[in-house]
Formats: sequence, C-alpha cells, structure tokens
Amino acid sequence: MNRIIRNILSVAVLALAGCSSAPQTETDRKVEELLSQMTLHEKIGQMNQLSGGAWLADQAAKGEVGSILNCVDPAEINAVQRAAVEESRLGIPILVARDVIHGFRTIFPIPLGLASTFDPEIVEEGARVAAVEATASGIRWTFSPMLDVARDPRWGRVAEGSGEDPYLDVQMGLAMVRGYQGEDLSNPASMAACIKHFVGYGAAEGGRDYNSTMISERSLRNTYFPAFKATADAGAATLMTSFNEIDGIPSTGNKWLLKDILRDEWGWDGMVVTDWNSAGEMIAHGFSNDLKHTAEQSVNAGVDMDMMSYGFIQYLEELVKEGKVSEAEIDRAVRNILKLKFDLGLFENPYVDETASAKVDYAPAHLEAAKQSAVESAILLKNEGGVLPLDKAKTILVTGPLADAPYEQMGTWAFDGQQEHTVTPLTALRQEYDVIWEPGLAYSRDRSTKEFAKVRNAASRAEAAVVFVGEEAILSGEAHSLSNLNLQGAQSELIAEVAKAGKPVVVVVIAGRPLTVERDLDNCDAMLYSFHPGTMGGPALADLIKGKANPSGKLPMTFLRDAGQAPFYYNHNNLGRPNNGTETLLYDIPIAAGQTSLGCTSYYLDTGYGPLFPFGYGLSYTSFKYGNPVLDKGEYTEDDVIRVSFELKNTGMREGTEVVQLYVQDKVGSVVRPVKELKGFQRVTLAPGETRTVTFELPVSDLAFWNIDMEYVVEKGDFNLWVAGDSASGEPVSFEVI
Ligand code: GLC
Repeated sequence: MNRIIRNILSVAVLALAGCSSAPQTETDRKVEELLSQMTLHEKIGQMNQLSGGAWLADQAAKGEVGSILNCVDPAEINAVQRAAVEESRLGIPILVARDVIHGFRTIFPIPLGLASTFDPEIVEEGARVAAVEATASGIRWTFSPMLDVARDPRWGRVAEGSGEDPYLDVQMGLAMVRGYQGEDLSNPASMAACIKHFVGYGAAEGGRDYNSTMISERSLRNTYFPAFKATADAGAATLMTSFNEIDGIPSTGNKWLLKDILRDEWGWDGMVVTDWNSAGEMIAHGFSNDLKHTAEQSVNAGVDMDMMSYGFIQYLEELVKEGKVSEAEIDRAVRNILKLKFDLGLFENPYVDETASAKVDYAPAHLEAAKQSAVESAILLKNEGGVLPLDKAKTILVTGPLADAPYEQMGTWAFDGQQEHTVTPLTALRQEYDVIWEPGLAYSRDRSTKEFAKVRNAASRAEAAVVFVGEEAILSGEAHSLSNLNLQGAQSELIAEVAKAGKPVVVVVIAGRPLTVERDLDNCDAMLYSFHPGTMGGPALADLIKGKANPSGKLPMTFLRDAGQAPFYYNHNNLGRPNNGTETLLYDIPIAAGQTSLGCTSYYLDTGYGPLFPFGYGLSYTSFKYGNPVLDKGEYTEDDVIRVSFELKNTGMREGTEVVQLYVQDKVGSVVRPVKELKGFQRVTLAPGETRTVTFELPVSDLAFWNIDMEYVVEKGDFNLWVAGDSASGEPVSFEVI
C-alpha cells in the first residue's frame, strides 16, 4: 500500500476514532502516521537510550535504540544511523546526544564562569559555536543548560550552573537554549537543548552530591522552577529529570513534577529523558522494589526516554500486557520522541558529513569568542594600590600549578576539548613579558614544598610575581563535593613563600567553584578569579594582567570566609533576628559571660556574619560612581512599568565596563520575602570621565511571587529598590504598589 493511500487512511481512521490527538500540524500528522504503524516493541525501542557507538548497530537494526550518547566519531555515528535507517523495519533515525556543556572542541569557560560575564549575548554566541562544532560531528542533542540554582559551593556541580540567583539563572538558560537551538531546530547546525536537572538537585543537603533535598512547594516555585519555566516557554526541546528526591519522592518518579507541573500547568510539549540510570536508582532510594517497578513508576510519572537503566527495554512490554502501564502512556512518550526527531529534520537528513568537523573545529572565530568569554568571566577581587595591570613590568615570575595546565584549565565536562589546543597563561604571558618560570608545585593537590627555594630565588629576580593556583578539573563537577574549600595542597604556602620576596604579588585563581581564599588575600596585592576559563584562558588572562583588557566579571555566587558558613546566599529571607553588625566574636567574649549577653542575632561566633565577597561583586581597573536612582513615580499598579534612572560615571583613568544591577525588596508579604532579589542587570561601557544616564524598565508584574495561597501574584505594599555594582552596595529608594 503506497504512502499516499496510507496517509489518507490514517487521517480518516483518526478522524473517525474522534482521536483527541487528531494531527494539528504537518509534524503531528507524520508522527501519528508513523506511530500507527509501529509495534509495541518498536515503540519501546524508541524510549531506550544507550551509551555507545558502532557496537549498538545490531540493536539499532532491530529498532531497539531510540538514542545514543557518548559517541562523537562521525563515521561511527553514521554506522549506527545506517543500521537504524536502512536495516530496521521502519527506518526511524537515531537521536545522537552528548554533554556539550561549555563548548565541544573549542572549550569556553565553565557555565559558572559564563554566568560571571552577566552577558547573555556572549553566552548565546558560545552556545552557538558549541552547536556548530558538535553538529558537525553528528551530535544533535546536548544535555545542557544545567539550570540548578546552587547556594552551596561544597557541591562540585556549582561549576556547571549559573550560581545562586534565579533571575541570572533564567537569563543564562535562555541564552544557551537560543544558542543551541537557533531559530530553526531542523537546521543541521542546530541541536536540541536539554534543561536539567529537573528539579532541585542543587539543594543537596550538605552540598553532598546526590543527597536528599527538602524543598517546599513555594521554594520550588519561587526559586528552583523559574529558569525551567522560562526555558520551557522559550521552546527548550527536552528536559532531564534529576537524581535527587524531594521530600522523599525521586524526581524521575514524580508525577506531580513531570505531568501536573510540566504538562498540565506549564503546557510544555517537549521530551523528558531520565538522568543516567536515575530510573534504576529508585531501587537504591527505596522507592522501587526492582527494575521492572522503576520502569512502571517512571513511565507512569511522565518520563519519555530511559537513559541507561535498561528497565524500559526489558520490562515495558510485560508491564503493558499486565495492564500496569497503558499503551496510551507508551504512545505519549513515543509521540514526544518522534516529534523531536521530525523537528530536527532527522528523517530527511539522518547522516553527518564526515568531513565537516575539520572545517569548523577550533575555527579562529570560535577561539576569539572563547577568549572574549574568558576575558569577561574573570572577576577582579582585590587590587591593592593598583598593582594590576602589570603594564610597566618587564620581567615577571610566573609560578603555581595552574599556570601551565592545559587539561585542567578546561574544567569539568570538557570531554571533547583537546588539550593540545589549549593556550595556557604561561604560554600567553611569554608573549608579553620576560618570564621566569618556576612551577613551585606540580598540581593543585601537591603538598611538596621542595621546589619553594627555587621559587623564592626566582621571585627575588623578578619585578613582580603572578601565582596561578586553584583546582584541577577533577576537583569540581559531578560527584566531587568538598567539605574544605581552602586551596588544596601547599598552594597557600606557595603564595606566602612568594610574598616573602617583597615584590608585587598577583594571585590568579583558576577553579570550578568559589573557594575560601581569605587567608590568601592577605598574602597578595591583587587577586583575579577565573572559573576554569577554557581553551583560550591563557590569552584572556594575559590580556587582563597586561592591561589590554579590563576585568568586568561579577560573582554569580557568594564567596564564603569559611565552608562552615554554607549555604550562604544574598537573597535569603528576612529573619526575625537579622544580623545587625553588633556581633561579639569568639575571642571578645568575656569569660563566664551571661547566657543572653551576646548579640542574639544570626551570625557565627567565630566567623561573624558576612561573606568574604557578596553576590554580584567585582572590581575594575577603573572606578564607577553611582548617582541616586530616580523613579518615574512613587506608586504603581500591577500593570505599570517602573522606570528607574541613575547617572553612572567612570571616575577612573581608563575605559571600563560595569555590570549595573537592579535589586528589589518586597518589604512585607503574605509570606516572608527575600531581603532583596536581582531583577535586572546591564553591562555599561564608559570612557574615562564619561557619565551616562542608565535606565531600567521593570514591569511591576516581574515582582510577582507564589504567596500564602500558592497564587502567583504581585502583592500591594511597600518596596525598596537598589541600583548598584553588587548585592551589598547602594542605598534604596522606595515605592509602593497600590
Ligand atoms: C550524568 C549527569 C548528567 C549528564 C548525564 C549524561 O550523570 O548527571 O548531567 O547529562 O549523566 O552524561
């Protein structure tokens, strides 16, 4: 029976059956037509994602593989694809996936570094570069962006996200989805995004990966959902469930999340994949009796595709026959999978040109984009006496285990970056200075001080010293939590050793997370912080050190004085006994002090209250003066737009870019509200002495939150508003919502 007659019949059958899924679009029609021809076994084969390459060809030929991950060789991908397309009964192409998290071949700063740019445009450009390079190798689906709000730097996966703030998380997530998916998913240079990990994974207790989370519905809605909702509304094609359980329910088996919220409330029609064996892990969670039970629970909860538990392919046919999973559920899942494959144009264009990648990988424009991202992601934390930029020095000492570590500077989730393409800070600085190179330590955990004498001697011969410390890539990322956030090994000792020479000391930290660097700050004149900057980190840092570029990065996470302060974040709720700066510290407490004689506010006896550096903090080689913010009105209705303007002046001697930030506080709510929340930011570049009027337009509707009645509303009342260079600065102006 030819395809035309089959088409007419399938539409007629659907119309006669009054099927609610009567095709609305051409793609829906194609999906329904194909679905109507599939056996149950073939449908379940689409729901099966396996890790591997050519050795999966036999299963692909049987129609038992819907997607593969972790194969990046174009020839191998084509081999598996040919088996699926040319040997299986229905010829349904395979969806090829990979963790392209911050670049494919050209590695950009890790996502926490990208967030430090507060520059959605450059983040989108980086995602586009990643898509161009990855699709040229045959990848059409990336497991990115990671949208997990994270407030505990002990959790190694803070490296992969956008930090502690929901608003910044939204902006970065949207930028990445735009970059990956482009305007048209069927463009062979576009790849499907995957918003992950849904949801609350970053709230793992103790910052210990895979640990339990206890998150209220209101916190989910006000803090952890926003970036998922925004990117889902913006057309993110897929979503990944998270490993964690929330209040005892693993996300992969959580129907409230995957159906009631995602489908019914948000109306999202993308495809849901589990995390790696996260279905199977529900046995260990004690939520499932066995693998068959996990398949029943996850499919009935709303999962479409199973990454590597083998539960779906092994048990779903049995479960359907036993009536524990309906074929309608299977059809729902397969529709989402087939729709994605049609949207990607895989049926028309299943194969990759095996010569394509050589033409795009590490293209000069890609390297330039990666360098600019790294420049903008670096955060200047200290610059005593304007030691930086080192624009007059001729001979400098370069030392430290991260100065010439091409693999480490790419950071976590950089599988496909080739370290031979990495340009290290040592290599780049040698283009600018006469460099005396003494590593001092071989790697970040190195505890041997046997080379320190050489470093001390070298420092005495240099005009200044630049010490590159931080973390090897393996010390952050998945399953790499730390309870101690100080520089590992003898790195702090190395900095102190260099400081003894009495020359200007610049410390550059290259790490995957905020570290507790307070003691290191005492031993240097300047500190530049760079979250694993990627392939072009060296030239970027050299330009910043030399002064060819001016730092503009801002902290996407609060920096702690001690790991014991975690979790610590700027947008915490109002407290009944907020810190008021009157704390009595440990060694100031009188002996036999009376029980209620101390501050009775929220702080630590040993470290006090404040963080080392607040969210949004970052210095520049110039300085900026903020004028008082002026509101266009004093009262607003919820349909209004708040217009706030202020003068920003570059009061220094060189051009600079300032990330101006807009914060709002809802002073009294039907539930306790955060002390302040980021509601906008802009990158403003000013020439020396230049003054500009900067304006924010903030719809009052952006002040909505989930209230005591679990309604998403703007509540009337008094608000404060700040414009500042970080979350701890500026004086508020007030307004009222009436
Ligand atoms: C990992 C990660 C997830 C990743 C997936 C595939 O365990 O949790 O982020 O995308 O497996 O590699």
